[in-house]
Amino acid sequence: MKLSVLSVAAAIASAVAVKVNPLPAPRHISWGSSGPVPVEGLALRAQYHGRNAAILDSAWDRAWKAITTLQWVPAATEAPIQANHFAPFPGEPTITPIPYKRAIAARLRSVDVFVADGNADLQHGVDESYTLEVGEGSSTVQINAETVWGALHAFTTLQQIIISDGHGGLMVEQPVRITDKPLYPYRGIMLDSGRNFISLPKILEQIDGMALSKLNVLHWHLDDSQSWPMHMSVYPQMTKDAYSASETYSHGDMQQVIAYARARGVRVIPEVDMPGHSESGWKQVDPNIVACANSWWSNDDWTYHTAVEPNPGQLDIIYNGTYDVVRNVYHELSGIFPDNWFHVGADELQTGCYNFSKYVTEWFKEDPSRTYNDLAQYWVDKAVPIFHEAAPPSRRLMMWEDIALGAVSANDVPKNIVLQSWNNGIANIDNLTARGYDVVVSSSDWLYLDCGHGGAVTNDPRYDVMSNPSGGVTFNYGGNGGSWCAPYKTWQRIYDYDFTTNLTATQAKHILGGEAPLWSEQVDDVTVSSGFWPRASALGELLWSGNRDPKTGKKRTTEMTQRILNFREYLVANGVMATALVPKYCLQHPHACDLYYNQDVVV
Ligand SMILES: *[C@@H]1O[C@H](CO)[C@@H](O)[C@H](O)[C@H]1NC(C)=O
Ligand SMILES: *[C@@H]1O[C@H](CO)[C@@H](O)[C@H](O)[C@H]1NC(C)=O
Ligand SMILES: *[C@@H]1O[C@H](CO)[C@@H](O)[C@H](O)[C@H]1NC(C)=O
Ligand SMILES: *[C@@H]1O[C@H](CO)[C@@H](O)[C@H](O)[C@H]1NC(C)=O
Repeated sequence: MKLSVLSVAAAIASAVAVKVNPLPAPRHISWGSSGPVPVEGLALRAQYHGRNAAILDSAWDRAWKAITTLQWVPAATEAPIQANHFAPFPGEPTITPIPYKRAIAARLRSVDVFVADGNADLQHGVDESYTLEVGEGSSTVQINAETVWGALHAFTTLQQIIISDGHGGLMVEQPVRITDKPLYPYRGIMLDSGRNFISLPKILEQIDGMALSKLNVLHWHLDDSQSWPMHMSVYPQMTKDAYSASETYSHGDMQQVIAYARARGVRVIPEVDMPGHSESGWKQVDPNIVACANSWWSNDDWTYHTAVEPNPGQLDIIYNGTYDVVRNVYHELSGIFPDNWFHVGADELQTGCYNFSKYVTEWFKEDPSRTYNDLAQYWVDKAVPIFHEAAPPSRRLMMWEDIALGAVSANDVPKNIVLQSWNNGIANIDNLTARGYDVVVSSSDWLYLDCGHGGAVTNDPRYDVMSNPSGGVTFNYGGNGGSWCAPYKTWQRIYDYDFTTNLTATQAKHILGGEAPLWSEQVDDVTVSSGFWPRASALGELLWSGNRDPKTGKKRTTEMTQRILNFREYLVANGVMATALVPKYCLQHPHACDLYYNQDVVV
C-alpha cells in the first residue's frame, strides 16, 4: 500500500507517526525523539562466517527489496491512547509536531551485522535473540545476533520500521534501540494437506507470513484418511490415493518447502498421523494393515461409529505387517525432513473401527482382561522403538495429547515425547505438565483456525429447520456456528489466551510454545491464506513477547489492535493474502471502532 504524499506528509507532521511499532512487538524497544533520518541504499556490512552465511545474504536482499519496492507507510500508527482525536475526551493533550529534519547531516548508509555463531543449525531451542540499534545521528544500523536465525528476525523488524518519507525516499525514526528474543522456542502453525491438497506456491506463501510474524515452526500434517499426496520411493502405489497425479508432492517438492522455510528461519516438522486417521495410501500397500476402511462411518448411529469424520480407517495395531510398512514410510520421510522432530499423530483412536479387524478381535479374545488402553499401549511399545531406530539419535517425537489423555490412551507414554494439547484448554495443559510432559499448546477453543464455518458433512437434516439451529442442544457442540469447535476464533480470542493460568513455575517450564492448526476439510488453495492470516500473527506475538505490557503487566490487546490492522495490510503488500479484520475506517482511525471507550476493560 502506497499512501499519497499528502497523507504521508500528514503522518510525518506528528512525531509519533513515524515510530512504527513492528509486529510482533519486540521485548524491549526504546525510541528517542530527535526525529527521523533519511535512509539511503543500505549496504550490508557483515561480520559473520560459517555455513549459514549465504542464508543471511539472501535474507538481507529480500528485506531490502521489500523496503525499496513497497515504500511502506502504515495507515496509522499507535498514538498514545489519551491523545486520540475523537470528541469524548475533553481537554485532550495536543501532540507537538516534530518536522522531518531534512537538513540534518545524518543519513543511514549501511547495516552492520555481527553474528557470533554462523554455524548454529536451525533446530528446536536455537538462540533467536538479536539487538538492533540506530544511534542518534549514526549512519549505520547495528545488528548483533548470536546466530543467523536471530539476525533474520532483526531484518523482519527493520523492514517494518523503515518507511517512505513521502518524497520518494525512505526514512527511519531514530534513535531506536531494540533488544529482542522470544518467550517460547516453539511458535507454529499447522497446515493440513491431507483433507484438501495445498499447492507448493501456497505453502511458500504461508512461510512468508510466518517469517514476517517470527513464527518458526511449520507443522505439516502431510496426509490423512482422505488422501496421500507424498511420493514414496519405497511404495510408489501410495499416491494412487492422492486426489490426482498433479495433487502430489515429489521429494523435490518437499525439499523445496524445507529449503524455502529454512532460508526464512522456519523449521518444518512433518506429521504422518498414525495409527488413527489412516486409510489412503496405506491400503494400497497392503489392505490388511488398515482396519475398517470399507465401513460406514456411522455418526448417525453412534454405537457403531468407526470414525469421527469420513472416511474411516486406522492402522491395524496387532497385524504384524503394519510395522514393516510404518518403518519404511517413516524411514524414507526421515531422510527428506532434516528436523530433529517428527510428529507421529496418535489422535482420536476409535474403538469401533477395530471390530473390523480379525487380528484385533482375536487378540482381545485371547485374554479377556485386555482393554483398548492396552491396545493403545501395544502401539506405543511397538511403534516408538521403530521411530527411534529408523531416525537420527537426536530424533524427538511429537504426538497429539490423546495418546496420554484421550478416551482411548496408553497407560505409559514415554516422558520424552512432546504432547500437543488440543482439548479442554488449561485443564489438559495442567494435567500433562503436572505429569512431566513437554507440551505444545494448541487448545482448540482458542487456537483452532478452522472453527466456525459450519459443518462439512453432508445430508445433514439439522440444517433443515425453520428456526435458528444454534438453539439445538448438541448441534453446535457448545458454540454458535455449527462446526464442532465453533465459533470462529478471532485474533483477539487468540491473543488473549493466558495458557499458563494457575500452573506452577515447574509446570510452566514444560510449555515449549504454541501452534495454531488450520484443519483443511473446508480449506484449499483458495482460502488457506485467509484462514491463517492475520490471526496466526496474533499467536506470533503472544508467543514471542506475550500479550501484556512488560512495564504495567496489563493486557495490551487494545494497543495491539493498530499493530495487527497495519500488519494485515503489510502481509497483503508482501503477497500473503490475509483477510480483512475491520472496515478500513477503523484501520485509519485508531480506537474509533473499540467496543469500550474505557481502554482498560481488557484485563
Ligand atoms: C464393536 O463391538 C462392540 C462390542 O461388541 C459393540 O458394542 C460396538 O457397537 C461395535 N462397533 C461397531 C462399529 O461395530
Ligand atoms: C508377529 O511377529 C512376532 C515375532 O516375529 C511373532 O511372535 C508373532 O506371533 C507375530 N504375530 C502375529 C499376529 O502374526
Ligand atoms: C490427568 O487426567 C487423567 C485422566 O482424566 C487422570 O486420571 C489423572 O489423574 C490426571 N492427572 C493429573 C496429574 O492431573
Ligand atoms: C485458577 O484458579 C482459581 C482459584 O482456584 C480459579 O477460580 C480459576 O477458575 C482457575 N482458572 C482456571 C482457568 O482454571
